[in-house]
Amino acid sequence: MQVPEQIEGKIRELAATGNTLNCYIYNTKPMAEKVASLSVMMPTGVEIFYAMKANPHVAFLQTAKDSGVEGIEIASLGEAKKAVEAGFSPDRLIYTGPGKSPEELRWCVEQGIRTVHIESLTEAYRLHQLCVELDKPQDVLLRINADFDIHDAQTTFSGGSKKFGVDEEKLDEVLPQILALEYLNFRGLHVYAASGVLNVDDLLKNCELVFKLTQKIESNYANVRCDIIDFGGGFGVDYLEEGHDFNPQAWADGLQAMIAEYGFEGRHFVLELGRYLAADSGFFCTEILDIKESRGKKQVICAGGINHFRRPAALGINHPMSIVWMDKTRLHTYQEKVRGEKVYFGGPLCTGADKLANDIFIEAADIGDIAVFGLAGAYGLTMSNQEFLSHAKPDEVVLNS
Ligand SMILES: Cc1ncc(COP(=O)(O)O)c(C=O)c1O
Repeated sequence: MQVPEQIEGKIRELAATGNTLNCYIYNTKPMAEKVASLSVMMPTGVEIFYAMKANPHVAFLQTAKDSGVEGIEIASLGEAKKAVEAGFSPDRLIYTGPGKSPEELRWCVEQGIRTVHIESLTEAYRLHQLCVELDKPQDVLLRINADFDIHDAQTTFSGGSKKFGVDEEKLDEVLPQILALEYLNFRGLHVYAASGVLNVDDLLKNCELVFKLTQKIESNYANVRCDIIDFGGGFGVDYLEEGHDFNPQAWADGLQAMIAEYGFEGRHFVLELGRYLAADSGFFCTEILDIKESRGKKQVICAGGINHFRRPAALGINHPMSIVWMDKTRLHTYQEKVRGEKVYFGGPLCTGADKLANDIFIEAADIGDIAVFGLAGAYGLTMSNQEFLSHAKPDEVVLNS
């Protein structure tokens, strides 16, 4: 991975303060560019929402807003409040995820968010009860756990036994009950297959499945129309540096053809993108504090570990990385160094699980250098074990692009 000049410049500037360097550096220009190019290439009716779970930092919310996303996909009241603070009105929020509390649902109805994505029959009844109490209707989508999964994906959200949505086979049991709840306006379906997908055809298969389900529902239930179809997120990025990201143009072309084939023009098609939008707008930069040789392997120990950047360990993959050389004076004659070899990176936590990269080839690294992990703008600090060992939170430095 080549560290962008602007990021390296900032690292050198921060290192010059003499404090141990351990931070995220964000430059959200790539995110803005991605939203702009997706907006041009997508078929009419496609609405792009930013899945803020990928990175809830205000710089990302602001970029999403300035670059013209339709709204924000939220998964908690905390996210809802951050999105509103960043300037999104509640009617630009869509709410997904299992286990929404009564307090969270009440806020949604009171504030008038765009759609609540129902994850179970119980949730439908709970939401309905609140709507009756407040005498306010709510638009809803029904999330389906389709009988389909993408084996190659990093994380799957449908297929098999899942906590997400209602099993496809139970649709005829659940849907009539939801339709009978008079304060819930059924607007359509949400079927999210998987996250981190690089193969366009896999995600298009999911679109086709939702279209077929939509046709089935509309032919079985008179007066029901799914005018919103939500495909979730899932566009992947090239963590393994294989030379390609997800190809959104191919996906857009495939969807366009499918819309024509099914005669689905005039509907809303929702994309809730997190990783694809945010990943390349962030770098985790952490100082190498120690290098040890242990039984034939080099262990490189950094200032931040899974408390600050958990994703590589959680998903068992190495992120692209590079070393910014700082040329620090050696502390003693026997100090270890890395020269053209495969090594292990970890942080300061007292668990063997604290791994940042495994068996990764590094040209050269010394104590005092900065390890820089790329594609860290999505699911970086936000999914890390920040409280473990009570280290200080890393800074999140935002560059003006
Ligand atoms: C409901 C929902 N929508 C959207 C996303 C964002 O997915 P991605 O980052 O793969 O685009 C997620 C991720 O977990 C999700 O659970």
